[in-house]
Amino acid sequence: MRINQPTTDREYQFTPQETLVSVTDTQGYLTYCNPTFIAVSGFEEEELLLGQPHNLIRHPDMPAEAFRDLWASIQAGLPWTGLVKNRRKNGDFYWVQANVTPLRAGERIVGYLSVRTCPTRQQVQSAETLYAQLQAQARQGRIRLCLHRGAVQRVGLIGQAARWLQAGTGARLVWLQAAAVAVALAPALAQAPLPLTLATAGAAALGAGWLARRLAVAPLADLVREANLLASGDLSQTVTTGASGSIGLLQRALFQLSVNLRTRSTSTFHGVPRTSMECCKSLSWFVFSRKSVPVTSSEIY
Ligand SMILES: Cc1cc2nc3c(=O)[nH]c(=O)nc-3n(C[C@H](O)[C@H](O)[C@H](O)COP(=O)(O)O)c2cc1C
Repeated sequence: MRINQPTTDREYQFTPQETLVSVTDTQGYLTYCNPTFIAVSGFEEEELLLGQPHNLIRHPDMPAEAFRDLWASIQAGLPWTGLVKNRRKNGDFYWVQANVTPLRAGERIVGYLSVRTCPTRQQVQSAETLYAQLQAQARQGRIRLCLHRGAVQRVGLIGQAARWLQAGTGARLVWLQAAAVAVALAPALAQAPLPLTLATAGAAALGAGWLARRLAVAPLADLVREANLLASGDLSQTVTTGASGSIGLLQRALFQLSVNLRTRSTSTFHGVPRTSMECCKSLSWFVFSRKSVPVTSSEIY
Protein backbone atom coordinates (compact mmCIF):
# COMPACT_ATOMS: atom_id res chain seq x y z
CA MET A 1 0.00 0.00 0.00
CA ARG A 2 1.45 3.33 -1.09
CA ILE A 3 1.48 6.11 1.54
CA ASN A 4 1.89 9.52 -0.06
CA GLN A 5 2.98 12.27 2.34
CA PRO A 6 2.71 14.99 3.49
CA THR A 7 -0.97 15.90 3.63
CA THR A 8 -2.76 19.10 4.63
CA ASP A 9 -6.31 19.88 5.80
CA ARG A 10 -6.94 22.12 2.79
CA GLU A 11 -9.64 20.94 0.41
CA TYR A 12 -9.43 21.82 -3.27
CA GLN A 13 -12.85 22.31 -4.84
CA PHE A 14 -13.52 21.85 -8.51
CA THR A 15 -16.79 22.84 -10.13
CA PRO A 16 -19.72 20.50 -10.88
CA GLN A 17 -19.29 21.34 -14.57
CA GLU A 18 -15.78 19.82 -14.65
CA THR A 19 -14.95 16.15 -15.12
CA LEU A 20 -11.58 14.59 -14.40
CA VAL A 21 -10.74 11.82 -16.86
CA SER A 22 -7.94 9.29 -16.76
CA VAL A 23 -7.17 6.09 -18.63
CA THR A 24 -4.90 3.32 -17.36
CA ASP A 25 -3.52 0.10 -18.77
CA THR A 26 -4.67 -3.16 -17.21
CA GLN A 27 -2.08 -2.80 -14.43
CA GLY A 28 -3.28 0.65 -13.35
CA TYR A 29 -0.49 2.66 -15.01
CA LEU A 30 -1.69 6.01 -16.33
CA THR A 31 -1.80 6.35 -20.12
CA TYR A 32 -4.04 9.41 -20.47
CA CYS A 33 -5.26 12.28 -18.26
CA ASN A 34 -7.44 15.16 -19.41
CA PRO A 35 -6.34 18.76 -18.75
CA THR A 36 -8.78 19.14 -15.81
CA PHE A 37 -7.41 16.00 -14.15
CA ILE A 38 -3.87 17.36 -14.51
CA ALA A 39 -4.79 20.81 -13.19
CA VAL A 40 -6.68 19.45 -10.17
CA SER A 41 -3.94 16.91 -9.31
CA GLY A 42 -1.32 19.68 -9.17
CA PHE A 43 1.20 17.48 -11.01
CA GLU A 44 2.77 18.23 -14.37
CA GLU A 45 1.53 16.14 -17.29
CA GLU A 46 4.96 14.48 -17.65
CA GLU A 47 5.00 13.54 -13.96
CA LEU A 48 1.69 11.73 -14.38
CA LEU A 49 2.16 10.08 -17.72
CA LEU A 50 5.73 8.80 -17.64
CA GLY A 51 4.76 5.30 -16.59
CA GLN A 52 3.25 6.32 -13.26
CA PRO A 53 0.82 4.06 -11.40
CA HIS A 54 -2.51 5.60 -10.38
CA ASN A 55 -1.65 5.34 -6.69
CA LEU A 56 0.58 8.40 -7.25
CA ILE A 57 -2.47 10.46 -6.22
CA ARG A 58 -3.65 8.15 -3.45
CA HIS A 59 -4.62 9.86 -0.21
CA PRO A 60 -3.65 8.03 2.99
CA ASP A 61 -7.21 8.47 4.36
CA MET A 62 -8.55 6.12 1.67
CA PRO A 63 -9.20 2.61 3.00
CA ALA A 64 -7.58 -0.30 1.14
CA GLU A 65 -11.05 -1.93 1.02
CA ALA A 66 -12.30 0.71 -1.45
CA PHE A 67 -9.55 -0.10 -3.93
CA ARG A 68 -9.92 -3.85 -3.39
CA ASP A 69 -13.57 -3.52 -4.37
CA LEU A 70 -12.76 -1.21 -7.29
CA TRP A 71 -10.27 -3.67 -8.77
CA ALA A 72 -12.48 -6.72 -8.09
CA SER A 73 -15.36 -5.04 -9.94
CA ILE A 74 -13.49 -3.76 -12.98
CA GLN A 75 -11.45 -6.93 -13.39
CA ALA A 76 -14.78 -8.79 -13.44
CA GLY A 77 -15.74 -6.53 -16.35
CA LEU A 78 -18.19 -4.39 -14.33
CA PRO A 79 -18.27 -0.63 -13.80
CA TRP A 80 -17.50 0.73 -10.31
CA THR A 81 -18.83 3.92 -8.83
CA GLY A 82 -17.67 5.27 -5.50
CA LEU A 83 -16.27 8.26 -3.68
CA VAL A 84 -12.49 8.73 -3.63
CA LYS A 85 -10.41 11.22 -1.68
CA ASN A 86 -7.31 12.09 -3.66
CA ARG A 87 -4.11 13.87 -2.70
CA ARG A 88 -2.81 16.81 -4.70
CA LYS A 89 0.91 17.13 -5.26
CA ASN A 90 1.16 19.81 -2.53
CA GLY A 91 -0.64 17.57 -0.01
CA ASP A 92 -4.09 19.20 -0.28
CA PHE A 93 -7.02 16.91 -1.02
CA TYR A 94 -10.10 16.75 -3.25
CA TRP A 95 -13.10 14.43 -3.31
CA VAL A 96 -14.43 12.88 -6.51
CA GLN A 97 -17.19 10.52 -7.46
CA ALA A 98 -15.20 8.04 -9.51
CA ASN A 99 -16.98 6.18 -12.31
CA VAL A 100 -14.56 3.50 -13.47
CA THR A 101 -15.21 1.15 -16.36
CA PRO A 102 -13.21 -1.43 -18.33
CA LEU A 103 -12.17 -0.59 -21.90
CA ARG A 104 -12.50 -3.56 -24.20
CA ALA A 105 -11.23 -4.74 -27.54
CA GLY A 106 -13.88 -7.31 -28.31
CA GLU A 107 -14.16 -9.48 -25.21
CA ARG A 108 -10.67 -8.61 -23.95
CA ILE A 109 -10.15 -5.87 -21.33
CA VAL A 110 -7.38 -3.60 -22.61
CA GLY A 111 -7.44 -0.86 -19.98
CA TYR A 112 -9.64 1.13 -17.65
CA LEU A 113 -11.30 4.53 -17.87
CA SER A 114 -12.25 6.72 -14.93
CA VAL A 115 -14.56 9.69 -15.33
CA ARG A 116 -14.76 11.66 -12.08
CA THR A 117 -17.51 14.07 -11.22
CA CYS A 118 -17.99 16.46 -8.32
CA PRO A 119 -19.80 14.76 -5.41
CA THR A 120 -22.38 16.50 -3.21
CA ARG A 121 -21.42 17.54 0.34
CA GLN A 122 -23.80 14.92 1.68
CA GLN A 123 -22.04 12.19 -0.32
CA VAL A 124 -18.66 13.39 0.97
CA GLN A 125 -19.87 13.35 4.59
CA SER A 126 -21.21 9.80 4.24
CA ALA A 127 -17.98 8.63 2.60
CA GLU A 128 -15.87 10.28 5.33
CA THR A 129 -17.80 8.42 8.02
CA LEU A 130 -17.75 5.10 6.18
CA TYR A 131 -14.07 5.26 5.22
CA ALA A 132 -13.06 6.20 8.79
CA GLN A 133 -14.96 3.10 9.96
CA LEU A 134 -13.24 0.91 7.34
CA GLN A 135 -9.82 2.27 8.35
CA ALA A 136 -10.54 1.71 12.05
CA GLN A 137 -11.72 -1.87 11.59
CA ALA A 138 -8.66 -2.66 9.43
CA ARG A 139 -6.39 -1.28 12.20
CA GLN A 140 -8.19 -3.30 14.87
CA GLY A 141 -8.34 -6.42 12.70
CA ARG A 142 -12.10 -6.78 13.35
CA ILE A 143 -13.78 -6.67 9.95
CA ARG A 144 -17.52 -5.95 10.15
CA LEU A 145 -18.14 -3.99 6.96
CA CYS A 146 -16.97 -4.51 3.42
CA LEU A 147 -17.71 -3.02 0.02
CA HIS A 148 -19.28 -4.91 -2.84
CA ARG A 149 -19.57 -3.22 -6.25
CA GLY A 150 -19.33 0.15 -4.50
CA ALA A 151 -22.06 -0.59 -1.94
CA VAL A 152 -21.42 -1.13 1.76
CA GLN A 153 -22.30 -4.54 3.20
CA ARG A 154 -21.94 -6.31 6.53
CA VAL A 155 -19.74 -9.39 6.60
CA GLY A 156 -20.82 -12.65 8.30
CA LEU A 157 -24.29 -14.06 8.82
CA ILE A 158 -26.11 -10.71 9.05
CA GLY A 159 -24.54 -9.61 5.78
CA GLN A 160 -25.44 -12.93 4.17
CA ALA A 161 -29.07 -12.54 5.31
CA ALA A 162 -29.20 -8.96 3.98
CA ARG A 163 -27.84 -10.13 0.62
CA TRP A 164 -30.55 -12.79 0.55
CA LEU A 165 -33.24 -10.22 1.17
CA GLN A 166 -31.79 -8.04 -1.58
CA ALA A 167 -31.77 -10.91 -4.06
CA GLY A 168 -31.89 -10.08 -7.76
CA THR A 169 -35.06 -9.78 -9.78
CA GLY A 170 -35.02 -13.41 -10.97
CA ALA A 171 -34.71 -14.78 -7.42
CA ARG A 172 -37.42 -12.43 -6.15
CA LEU A 173 -39.81 -13.61 -8.85
CA VAL A 174 -39.15 -17.24 -7.94
CA TRP A 175 -39.83 -16.48 -4.24
CA LEU A 176 -42.97 -14.62 -5.23
CA GLN A 177 -44.30 -17.52 -7.27
CA ALA A 178 -43.55 -19.97 -4.47
CA ALA A 179 -45.38 -17.73 -1.97
CA ALA A 180 -48.38 -17.35 -4.31
CA VAL A 181 -48.62 -21.15 -4.78
CA ALA A 182 -48.38 -21.68 -1.01
CA VAL A 183 -51.17 -19.15 -0.33
CA ALA A 184 -53.34 -20.59 -3.10
CA LEU A 185 -52.94 -24.16 -1.79
CA ALA A 186 -53.40 -23.37 1.90
CA PRO A 187 -57.26 -23.38 1.94
CA ALA A 188 -57.38 -26.60 -0.09
CA LEU A 189 -54.96 -28.30 2.31
CA ALA A 190 -57.08 -27.10 5.22
CA GLN A 191 -60.15 -28.57 3.43
CA ALA A 192 -61.83 -25.17 3.28
CA PRO A 193 -65.05 -24.76 1.21
CA LEU A 194 -64.54 -24.55 -2.56
CA PRO A 195 -65.59 -20.86 -2.97
CA LEU A 196 -63.04 -19.79 -0.32
CA THR A 197 -60.33 -21.91 -2.01
CA LEU A 198 -61.09 -20.39 -5.40
CA ALA A 199 -61.24 -16.83 -4.02
CA THR A 200 -57.90 -17.28 -2.23
CA ALA A 201 -56.26 -18.74 -5.36
CA GLY A 202 -57.60 -15.81 -7.43
CA ALA A 203 -56.39 -13.25 -4.88
CA ALA A 204 -52.95 -14.94 -4.73
CA ALA A 205 -52.65 -14.87 -8.54
CA LEU A 206 -53.71 -11.21 -8.73
CA GLY A 207 -51.42 -10.20 -5.84
CA ALA A 208 -48.46 -12.06 -7.37
CA GLY A 209 -49.08 -10.41 -10.73
CA TRP A 210 -49.22 -6.94 -9.15
CA LEU A 211 -46.02 -7.53 -7.17
CA ALA A 212 -44.22 -9.00 -10.20
CA ARG A 213 -45.12 -5.86 -12.11
CA ARG A 214 -43.71 -3.67 -9.34
CA LEU A 215 -40.57 -5.78 -8.99
CA ALA A 216 -39.67 -6.33 -12.63
CA VAL A 217 -41.76 -4.30 -15.05
CA ALA A 218 -41.82 -0.89 -13.31
CA PRO A 219 -38.00 -0.58 -12.88
CA LEU A 220 -37.54 -1.67 -16.50
CA ALA A 221 -40.07 0.94 -17.64
CA ASP A 222 -38.08 3.60 -15.72
CA LEU A 223 -34.89 2.39 -17.37
CA VAL A 224 -36.47 2.54 -20.82
CA ARG A 225 -37.61 6.14 -20.13
CA GLU A 226 -34.11 7.12 -18.97
CA ALA A 227 -32.44 5.33 -21.90
CA ASN A 228 -34.75 7.15 -24.30
CA LEU A 229 -33.83 10.51 -22.74
CA LEU A 230 -30.15 9.66 -23.24
CA ALA A 231 -30.85 8.51 -26.79
CA SER A 232 -32.54 11.83 -27.50
CA GLY A 233 -29.38 13.64 -26.36
CA ASP A 234 -30.71 14.89 -23.01
CA LEU A 235 -27.67 14.30 -20.82
CA SER A 236 -28.89 16.46 -17.94
CA GLN A 237 -30.83 13.66 -16.23
CA THR A 238 -29.23 11.48 -13.59
CA VAL A 239 -29.85 7.79 -14.22
CA THR A 240 -31.42 6.07 -11.20
CA THR A 241 -29.24 3.43 -9.53
CA GLY A 242 -29.57 1.28 -6.42
CA ALA A 243 -31.61 -1.73 -7.60
CA SER A 244 -30.14 -5.18 -7.01
CA GLY A 245 -29.59 -8.01 -9.49
CA SER A 246 -29.61 -7.62 -13.25
CA ILE A 247 -31.75 -4.48 -13.16
CA GLY A 248 -29.16 -2.90 -10.85
CA LEU A 249 -26.37 -3.93 -13.25
CA LEU A 250 -28.29 -2.41 -16.15
CA GLN A 251 -28.89 0.80 -14.17
CA ARG A 252 -25.17 1.10 -13.38
CA ALA A 253 -24.18 0.46 -17.00
CA LEU A 254 -26.61 3.16 -18.18
CA PHE A 255 -25.40 5.53 -15.44
CA GLN A 256 -21.78 5.00 -16.53
CA LEU A 257 -22.79 5.54 -20.14
CA SER A 258 -24.50 8.82 -19.24
CA VAL A 259 -21.43 10.08 -17.32
CA ASN A 260 -19.11 9.11 -20.15
CA LEU A 261 -21.35 10.71 -22.77
CA ARG A 262 -21.60 13.89 -20.71
CA THR A 263 -17.83 14.04 -20.48
CA ARG A 264 -17.37 13.46 -24.15
CA SER A 265 -19.88 16.16 -24.96
CA THR A 266 -18.09 18.79 -22.88
CA SER A 267 -14.40 17.89 -23.08
CA THR A 268 -11.56 18.80 -25.34
CA PHE A 269 -8.98 16.06 -25.73
CA HIS A 270 -5.49 17.11 -26.69
CA GLY A 271 -2.38 15.02 -27.09
CA VAL A 272 -3.96 11.70 -26.21
CA PRO A 273 -1.17 9.10 -26.29
CA ARG A 274 -1.47 6.41 -28.90
CA THR A 275 -1.99 3.59 -26.40
CA SER A 276 -4.89 5.42 -24.76
CA MET A 277 -6.37 6.21 -28.10
CA GLU A 278 -6.32 2.56 -29.00
CA CYS A 279 -7.97 1.71 -25.67
CA CYS A 280 -10.60 4.37 -26.07
CA LYS A 281 -11.36 3.39 -29.61
CA SER A 282 -12.73 0.14 -28.27
CA LEU A 283 -15.69 2.16 -26.97
CA SER A 284 -17.79 3.27 -29.87
CA TRP A 285 -18.50 6.69 -28.36
CA PHE A 286 -14.87 7.45 -27.60
CA VAL A 287 -13.35 7.82 -31.05
CA PHE A 288 -10.63 10.42 -30.71
CA SER A 289 -9.17 12.28 -33.64
CA ARG A 290 -5.43 11.72 -34.07
CA LYS A 291 -5.15 15.43 -34.80
CA SER A 292 -6.48 16.25 -31.31
CA VAL A 293 -9.52 18.08 -32.58
CA PRO A 294 -11.79 19.46 -29.84
CA VAL A 295 -14.83 17.28 -29.31
CA THR A 296 -18.14 19.14 -29.26
CA SER A 297 -21.60 18.12 -28.16
CA SER A 298 -22.75 17.99 -31.76
CA GLU A 299 -20.54 14.96 -32.31
CA ILE A 300 -22.67 12.71 -30.16
CA TYR A 301 -25.69 13.00 -32.38
C1 LIG B 1 -9.05 3.70 -14.08
C2 LIG B 1 -8.55 3.76 -12.66
C3 LIG B 1 -8.66 4.93 -11.93
C4 LIG B 1 -8.19 5.00 -10.63
N1 LIG B 1 -8.31 6.19 -9.97
C5 LIG B 1 -7.75 6.31 -8.73
C6 LIG B 1 -7.78 7.57 -8.07
O1 LIG B 1 -8.34 8.57 -8.54
N2 LIG B 1 -7.18 7.64 -6.84
C7 LIG B 1 -6.57 6.57 -6.26
O2 LIG B 1 -6.02 6.71 -5.15
N3 LIG B 1 -6.57 5.36 -6.88
C8 LIG B 1 -7.14 5.21 -8.08
N4 LIG B 1 -7.13 3.99 -8.71
C9 LIG B 1 -6.68 2.81 -7.95
C10 LIG B 1 -5.17 2.64 -7.97
O3 LIG B 1 -4.79 1.90 -9.10
C11 LIG B 1 -4.68 1.89 -6.71
O4 LIG B 1 -5.35 0.65 -6.63
C12 LIG B 1 -4.94 2.68 -5.41
O5 LIG B 1 -4.42 3.98 -5.49
C13 LIG B 1 -4.34 1.98 -4.20
O6 LIG B 1 -3.00 1.72 -4.45
P1 LIG B 1 -2.04 1.00 -3.39
O7 LIG B 1 -2.79 -0.15 -2.81
O8 LIG B 1 -0.85 0.56 -4.17
O9 LIG B 1 -1.70 1.99 -2.34
C14 LIG B 1 -7.60 3.88 -10.01
C15 LIG B 1 -7.49 2.69 -10.74
C16 LIG B 1 -7.99 2.62 -12.04
C17 LIG B 1 -7.86 1.33 -12.81
